[in-house]
Amino acid sequence: MANENVSIHGIWASRWVFILAATGSAVGLGNIWKFPYMAGVYGGGAFVLVYLLCIALIGLPIMLAETVLGRRGRQSPVNTLRSLAVQSAASPRWSWAAMMGMIAALLILSFYSVVAGWSLDYIIGMGRGEFAAIDGPGAGERFNGLTADPWRLTLWHSLFMLVTAFIIARGVVAGLERSLRIMMPMLFVLLVILLGYALTTGHFMEGVEFLFHFNLSEVPDGILAAMGHAFFTLSVGVGSIMVFGAYMPKKSSIGSTVITVALLDTVVALTAGLALFPIVFAAGLEPGGGPGLMFVTLPIAFGNIAMGQVFGFIFFVLVAVAAWSSAISMLEPAVAYWVERSGRSRAQITGCIALFCWVVGLGTVLSFNVLADAKFFVRDALGWHLIQWGAEGGKTFFELVDYLTSRIMLPLGGLLFALFAGWVLDREVFRAELGLRYPRLFPVVYWLLRYVAPVGVLIVFASELLK
Ligand code: PFF
Ligand code: NA
Repeated sequence: MANENVSIHGIWASRWVFILAATGSAVGLGNIWKFPYMAGVYGGGAFVLVYLLCIALIGLPIMLAETVLGRRGRQSPVNTLRSLAVQSAASPRWSWAAMMGMIAALLILSFYSVVAGWSLDYIIGMGRGEFAAIDGPGAGERFNGLTADPWRLTLWHSLFMLVTAFIIARGVVAGLERSLRIMMPMLFVLLVILLGYALTTGHFMEGVEFLFHFNLSEVPDGILAAMGHAFFTLSVGVGSIMVFGAYMPKKSSIGSTVITVALLDTVVALTAGLALFPIVFAAGLEPGGGPGLMFVTLPIAFGNIAMGQVFGFIFFVLVAVAAWSSAISMLEPAVAYWVERSGRSRAQITGCIALFCWVVGLGTVLSFNVLADAKFFVRDALGWHLIQWGAEGGKTFFELVDYLTSRIMLPLGGLLFALFAGWVLDREVFRAELGLRYPRLFPVVYWLLRYVAPVGVLIVFASELLK
């Protein structure tokens, strides 16, 4: 039986280190790269509104629940759920939810590493001064040139995966703190500098309008996309926050800690959006430009401000670090699980799992070039096709993995975690672990967890099926 004060994988030195690690996990490409491009694809306002509602009503309660479960169980998510279920006289099969989450996290890592690799390429580009006085078309060409080259993508993908695996192999609790303590605030400062540039473009209000123009009469097309992104951006539904919760010191209050992390994540995403869209409009680019959005707009900004190359260089370093601290948290649930299960060395296990993610990631690398025409789940007059070459609709490999994880596995995992924490775990245990500073809020949080979050996920799933 696991001891409730320690875990075999280590314990954070303090609540602050947990905040750093959890913020490191939450703040990443999801905020700076994915949020703006998805808001662009789904037309802004309504998407952003649903996203914010999902964060507050669904994501945050589940994030609290995951942390509580983790600290209570003190093991990898799979074994945490198993042992808590047994203690609560429930079925050990609850652990399957964590198993699914663990797999989802590895699948996310497979493409996350490829995109993080883009930022590595841009670090070099900035260092070489490739972006001086660049314009919209030039920036677009630079990006397309990168994604068209499978070897270059593979190189950066491999490098990023290696660095991630290296840290995980040594253990998360050591070493993470020092780098994140400086880098995370720096990232935010640079985003604010970019925001300052966006203010000078003369298109700032257009950006604001695009992001916050809510038209309540129309249910957004991207309702499932927005909910899925709320899970993705908070690192919720996969067990990443749970496993970090397992390393949290006994005495710290989970409530205020987790709320801080969720707030920081939201602020970073909104700041990134507010910085990017004015540049999009000023350069006459398409807001719905897809995954390349950030990699096309930001170089324009850096190419045109004083000391832009220096800022740009630092910025992409920070993006890479933010991605790296998120990637670490995707690997940890699976590594912790196999260490508990097999007792083999952390290094060996990390190597195997990272290799698996690397191989799957090659699919994403090729989906931007050689296999761009391989489309999965194509629907035409004849019905569904698993894979079709050159079809109109359907998803590339990258889109498929992204869809399966963000839109299905994460919300489903989150739903199961919420049901477990809300209905299986003892209410008093939950209350005690949460340790809210304002105890009168507890009924609200508990109600969100038991009813609002699960029903919310189900409604969004249903609305997608009825579309
Ligand atoms: N939250 C991260 C981001 O916004 O970039 C992505 C992420 C990290 C997703 C960890 C899932 C995860 F387990
Ligand atoms: Na995030």
